[in-house]
Amino acid sequence: MKLIFLGPPGSGKGTLAARAVDILKVPHISTGAIFRSAIAAGTFLGHRVKAIIDAGHLVNDSITISLVKDRLAQADTQKGYILDGFPRTMPQAKALAGFSTVDKVVDLTLSDPLVLERLGGRRVCRNCGVNYHRVFNPPKKVSDQGSAICDICGGEVYTRDDDREEAIRERIEVYREQTAPLIDYYRERGLLVEVDARPGVDQVVENFRKAVGV
Ligand code: AP5
Repeated sequence: MKLIFLGPPGSGKGTLAARAVDILKVPHISTGAIFRSAIAAGTFLGHRVKAIIDAGHLVNDSITISLVKDRLAQADTQKGYILDGFPRTMPQAKALAGFSTVDKVVDLTLSDPLVLERLGGRRVCRNCGVNYHRVFNPPKKVSDQGSAICDICGGEVYTRDDDREEAIRERIEVYREQTAPLIDYYRERGLLVEVDARPGVDQVVENFRKAVGV
């Protein structure tokens, strides 16, 4: 199954995708995670995109489109994929239609105050990328030095540079202007399903299963 996860920043796309890959047995492709890995590795791409991402702006369409096109050409996407965070602009959506079909577009719905609450408390494992939340899902393990570490791999847990309040507000604005119009674009094509992202993670997974029929 080929799925797109839409929804505002912090609506839980990455958290749901981590659970949905076990259900669907398809790869999770997050453009944000690809960019963050490039930044951590200090690659040419990473240097180009770091300041853009930290400020809450979008990376330009041509870089992002060619990155996703190359990724979808790999063999593990033959049976499907979850695209998390792409497309995010109308040119990206139109480009995607030229190189892949899509079965459903899952729109995770969440209000701005809840987005701020979730992103303000988010912590991420620097090593494996798993998401935590200071209140809703804190890491359970602590290092010898007394700081929180990842339950899964023991990696350092940190706050993303784009999770500062100013950057979060910018991301919400960018989402409203450039990404939200895709909701109607996919609704008109009969591909859109909505998932209420307000409840806890287990209930959101149930909402997703019902909406997609898996
Ligand atoms: P990206 O990483 O895609 O950021 P985003 O869309 O802003 O989404 P997030 O990762 O912030 O949130 P999420 O919806 O995955 O929520 P999460 O599961 O973490 O992109 C980052 C940047 O890269 C962009 O700003 C842009 O610069 C660039 N970029 C990426 N793609 C691009 C593209 N296509 N074009 C151009 N530029 C691009 O959850 C959030 C928090 O809530 C966590 O703490 C989590 O533990 C908690 N949580 C999740 N679900 C629940 C729940 N049900 N109940 C309680 N807490 C929950």
